[in-house]
Amino acid sequence: MDYHIPSVVIDNGSMTTRAGVSTDENPSLVFPTHYSKNVNTDEIVIGRDINNYPENEVYTLLNDGIFYNWDHVLDNWKYVYSNLKIESRELPLVITENSWNTKKNRNKSCQLAFEELEVPVFSIVKAPLCTSYSVGRSTSLIIDIGSSVTSVTPIFNGNILAKGTVHSKFAGDFLNLHVLEFLKKKTNNNIDDFLIPKAFNSDKKMSNSFKMYQINKTLADFKLSCLSFSKLPLDPIITPEQSNQIQMTPRHYLLPNEQENIQDDIVELQYEQYQLPEVLLKPALYTNNNLQDIKVPRDSMGLVELVLSSLQKLETAGDIYQQLLNNIVITGGTSFIPDLEHRVINEFQRTLPSLSIQTYSNPNLLERNFSSWIGATILSSMGSTLDNIFINKEEYEELGEDLIAERFK
Ligand SMILES: Nc1ncnc2c1ncn2[C@@H]1O[C@H](COP(=O)(O)OP(=O)(O)OP(=O)(O)O)[C@@H](O)[C@H]1O
Ligand SMILES: [Mg+2]
Repeated sequence: MDYHIPSVVIDNGSMTTRAGVSTDENPSLVFPTHYSKNVNTDEIVIGRDINNYPENEVYTLLNDGIFYNWDHVLDNWKYVYSNLKIESRELPLVITENSWNTKKNRNKSCQLAFEELEVPVFSIVKAPLCTSYSVGRSTSLIIDIGSSVTSVTPIFNGNILAKGTVHSKFAGDFLNLHVLEFLKKKTNNNIDDFLIPKAFNSDKKMSNSFKMYQINKTLADFKLSCLSFSKLPLDPIITPEQSNQIQMTPRHYLLPNEQENIQDDIVELQYEQYQLPEVLLKPALYTNNNLQDIKVPRDSMGLVELVLSSLQKLETAGDIYQQLLNNIVITGGTSFIPDLEHRVINEFQRTLPSLSIQTYSNPNLLERNFSSWIGATILSSMGSTLDNIFINKEEYEELGEDLIAERFK
């Protein structure tokens, strides 16, 4: 194929879809991956319009970082084409996937792309590999802390070392559970009144899933305004003496649903601003101490343990380990919490003082946010320097699943 032809690139995250044409620097279309449905008419709403239909039920497309709700993946992709004002038959389509995606899912994606959208050429690229290209490091250990999953992927000379890929559910949504618990206490359990913006307080019926969707938006805003990683570990229960020893300036968060008395809307955070993100490092300890309805197995791996388990599983030569450790790339929306990089370095020094590591998080936050989309545009335009990563319609019709298995390994 002529690799100078641009492709349409779609990066479906659990929370956000980024899409656009590969010749653009950044995705021109960024929208929630959730969709909503009117349960009486089955009418689907996608994108920011979800806010206009509080009575609809809100659903997700991905579970554990991979598609499961196949009935509506096509709606998401069609929404992309209609907003980009591009006919799906015109250009190649490139989508991203997590490295634990299944063969069955890949076949299904190809079927939708070729048979429903009738794209001429199609490719599925691995999101962490894309991130490694976006930061120009073909050897790297990619740590992606997103919304529903955290993954660790070792990459050597542009190839994913499959043995060392690991992932967990301890990412942004998991942190949300803890933030919600904290805010429940602060609002005397009155989360509907305090966490759903006033704009939605009408007489109109609001579904529970819509309420949760809006509450999660408030939690996302709270996280970006209020949280930071502590440089050292913090216990789940902090005594008043310990609290006095932690030097900090209190932070304040204005809840979105204005009450009559504005003071009721302001939440003050003391040590909690550092303590809440700790749940990503010690998920079992924090959850089993603080949340009543959820139990996390005691041997569940926090962020640093997950990285170490990836390295352990690799069973590779010492110099490859060192190259990976010198190129730890941290990405994903949850990596935006300040001082995460510092904390990861400190944890390594505490647990494995003999190892030297170097981390990198793209300081350009927009680029970090779009890293897998940007990397996918780079990969898709590299053409002949790579093994063929595309399948065209004729090949698909002739060779089908065998070719999919060979090309999208
Ligand atoms: N500044 C910030 N501080 C803290 N958390 C943030 C910040 N910005 C975004 N997040 C969180 O990052 C998560 C979204 O990350 P990202 O966009 O990488 O996820 P995704 O790619 O859609 O999902 P996934 O990779 O899990 O499939 C959400 O939980 C969001 O609340
Ligand atoms: Mg992601």
